[in-house]
Amino acid sequence: MSMPPKSSDEYSANEQNGRSAKDQSGFAPAGYGVSMAGIGAYVPKRCITNDDIATLVETSDDWIQTRTGIRTRHVVSGDESVADLAIEAAHQALASAGMQGSEIELIIVASSTPDTIYPAVACQVQTAIGASNAAGFDMALACSGFVYGLVIAQQFLKTGMHKTALVIGADIHSRYTNWHDRNTCILFGDGAGAAILKAELGGEDNILANDLHLDGSKGMELTLFTQAENCPLVEPKTPVNDYVYMNGREVFKFAVGVVPKSIQQVLDRSGLSIEDVDHVVLHQANIRIMQAMSEKLNIPEDRLIVNLDKYGNTSAASIPIALNEAVLNGRVKPGDLLVMCGFGAGLAWGTTIIRWTAVDQRCPQALKDEMQKKQDAMKPLELVSR
Ligand code: UT7
Repeated sequence: MSMPPKSSDEYSANEQNGRSAKDQSGFAPAGYGVSMAGIGAYVPKRCITNDDIATLVETSDDWIQTRTGIRTRHVVSGDESVADLAIEAAHQALASAGMQGSEIELIIVASSTPDTIYPAVACQVQTAIGASNAAGFDMALACSGFVYGLVIAQQFLKTGMHKTALVIGADIHSRYTNWHDRNTCILFGDGAGAAILKAELGGEDNILANDLHLDGSKGMELTLFTQAENCPLVEPKTPVNDYVYMNGREVFKFAVGVVPKSIQQVLDRSGLSIEDVDHVVLHQANIRIMQAMSEKLNIPEDRLIVNLDKYGNTSAASIPIALNEAVLNGRVKPGDLLVMCGFGAGLAWGTTIIRWTAVDQRCPQALKDEMQKKQDAMKPLELVSR
């Protein structure tokens, strides 16, 4: 593992950003170590193909596959809710970690499409999984929500305030999509993904570095307005578009511009280089965006975890859905280093680098045995900035 010493310029730049030179990820090195203990995902049963969409708008399977990489996506039907998806994903994450819902102390749900503003989706998850002592809340940051949620949970765990956290990314954009707008209706799918974080006093820290940003000046390039009305005694609000609006080209350019820099930032902060990283899980927005980003950073394509062909862009759920699949099929193993990066509406973006350490309890015995061997062989990471 290459660990070049940092230049003093880099340290002073980081100190100006309010981060200490000793610990670039924003917390004291001593105390609780945080690791990811489980992962889960769920998508609704109903699957929509590109050909199905071509019955609604003038498009084709060929155009959608070539321009986006998407072949199918899943959508909610009937009364299926974002909470239903979140709860199923939470059950999967608990099974993956071999834990009971009652062990969860904090629940964070990242969703920009909740069925209710209150009660929070986190409250519905709390009851459904029997996390009777859990605190929790919802947060909305569209496609960056899951990474922000992880980092928020990590801060609660680092202080020792909570010992376990369930972080869920769940979105159902199919209810907020104009199915006659071919610029957007081809892209989104519904789904939920969940991760469990655990804190251990004096334990190894396996969330190595983070990098979070906002650029509100470009916020109007990707919007979803609420439809609330003014009091009837005052001037009415100007009616707004009630569906997702996206300037696709601008969002594309923004993502390819900022994400490679953010990935480089977490690598620098953790004293790693891109060659040390085993897997990169980018928000599954468009295969061409992912390819452009990996070209900029010289990431070999086989290190990218990609499954948007099956699920489309599931917003806050896309990263945990992709990671869940890669863990279940044995591609991600204990000891592997992985970068996760969310980007989108806000405009917002966030990157984290973690070491995967868990043995997924849902895997067949032979795979579990192999993962256990990898876990037993793991050595403490010695990183420059820690
Ligand atoms: O999760 C949040 C983050 N979101 C993203 O990262 C999305 C970023 N943007 C994108 O992924 C891409 O910009 C899109 C997939 C949305 C669009 O791809 P593009 O290559 O940027 O296409 P374009 O908007 O530049 O459109 C090219 C042409 C246009 O026709 P003209 O003007 O060249 O005659 C469009 O009208 O393709 C046309 N077009 C379509 N044709 C067939 C646009 N949508 C479609 C469609 N089917 N669905």
